[in-house]
Amino acid sequence: MAELAILGGKPAVTIKDPERWRPPIEEEKKAVCELIEERFLSGSGTGLPKQFEEEFREYVGCKYCLTVDHGSTALASAFYAVKVGPGDEIITPTLGYLGTYTGALHLGARPVFCDIDPETLLIDPEDVERRITKRTRAIVPIHLWGNVCDMDALMDIGRRYGIPIIEDAAHAHGAEWDGVKVGNIGDLTCFSLQGCLPWGKPVCGGEGGIVTTNVREFYERMLAYCHLHRAGITDELTLPEYRGLDSEVLGLKWRAHPLALAIARVSFKSLDYRNRRRDEFRRKLFEALEGIPGVKPVKTYPKAKPGGFYGGLKLIYQPEELEGLPIDRYVEALKAEGVPISRYGRQLEHLRTIFRRGFDLWGHGRGPLGGEFFGLPPFEGYKEGDFPVAERMVGRILSIPAYIDPEDGFLEQVIKAFEKVAANYKQLL
Ligand SMILES: Cc1ncc(COP(=O)(O)O)c(C=O)c1O
Repeated sequence: MAELAILGGKPAVTIKDPERWRPPIEEEKKAVCELIEERFLSGSGTGLPKQFEEEFREYVGCKYCLTVDHGSTALASAFYAVKVGPGDEIITPTLGYLGTYTGALHLGARPVFCDIDPETLLIDPEDVERRITKRTRAIVPIHLWGNVCDMDALMDIGRRYGIPIIEDAAHAHGAEWDGVKVGNIGDLTCFSLQGCLPWGKPVCGGEGGIVTTNVREFYERMLAYCHLHRAGITDELTLPEYRGLDSEVLGLKWRAHPLALAIARVSFKSLDYRNRRRDEFRRKLFEALEGIPGVKPVKTYPKAKPGGFYGGLKLIYQPEELEGLPIDRYVEALKAEGVPISRYGRQLEHLRTIFRRGFDLWGHGRGPLGGEFFGLPPFEGYKEGDFPVAERMVGRILSIPAYIDPEDGFLEQVIKAFEKVAANYKQLL
């Protein structure tokens, strides 16, 4: 085989900027300009924001869909919907994201972390079940990078214990489980609209979020919580507790900016195309890598159809197949070959300072990460070793962008580069 590029040989990948798909910038500008000309720069429950909610609702196949200003506020309003409050706990994986659970924390609940499945890197349902207490008010799986969690196992746990499942689908627009779209499976599903095409959230308009549900009460609670002055809100509040509230409801205004939704609506039009193409790239790459020592692609559950693919395609480094070659050396060698590969750089959630040593959230010794609070046991703090699987896997995660329309021959060159490094790894030891 040819000499490794890191040792002076020729790189295997010669195509430098492989993505040919271009974001629909002209269409985005047109959509924004139309709203500027209409003077529709604020409002919800009507016009384009309502139209977008209706289109997304239909796509997912659920009964209710609300847009908000961020994915994290989508999650926060979902926590309010299921009545998360002081003294409660919610369970979420430590390989995750702060914005997934901070809405619950600020409502006074304590995040309880759980471990992950080593092959999918997603929430481990068995570990979830072990961590349930009488205080558990929600289970929050994350469809990380568009890979869908084991929804059969999670829904079964949720039903057996009477605990709502709130899915964080910030990365997974258009993904499916057993033929059903994510957004129409759990009790509530939250999407982010952050970033811009092609590398932002799969549907995106700068900032924004969406919540979907089939439960009327959850929908009305979210309306009441954070949709101040939404058009038609008082007519939509039909349940006895919320009927008769005025249009300022409970005072929070978390609605999305119409301009952001206009851009998101443009991106939504190409979602299925992008998902199909990225999935083709994923399948071909993963199939080829299965036979090459040094990495394994993340697994997908048999009923899952991944979608969205935000954050790239994940591979798991297997140093034992390369005589313990350090991961950084392996990555450097692939980069020198021209492979757009990187290491996953985030820390695990339980190792954040606030969870290692606690934090006096509201001052004066009050808060869910302190001593006893509304029935919560004293906070012990997390430490290294608490989540053996996530801790073992996090340092081995590698990422490759999920391309939509890569230049012809690019994928083949990338595969060649992996083969070349695997065949010559001894020179790197
Ligand atoms: C897994 C996950 N959940 C939630 C969020 C929050 O979304 P937003 O940034 O729109 O608040 C993000 C954002 O990146 C995320 O990656």
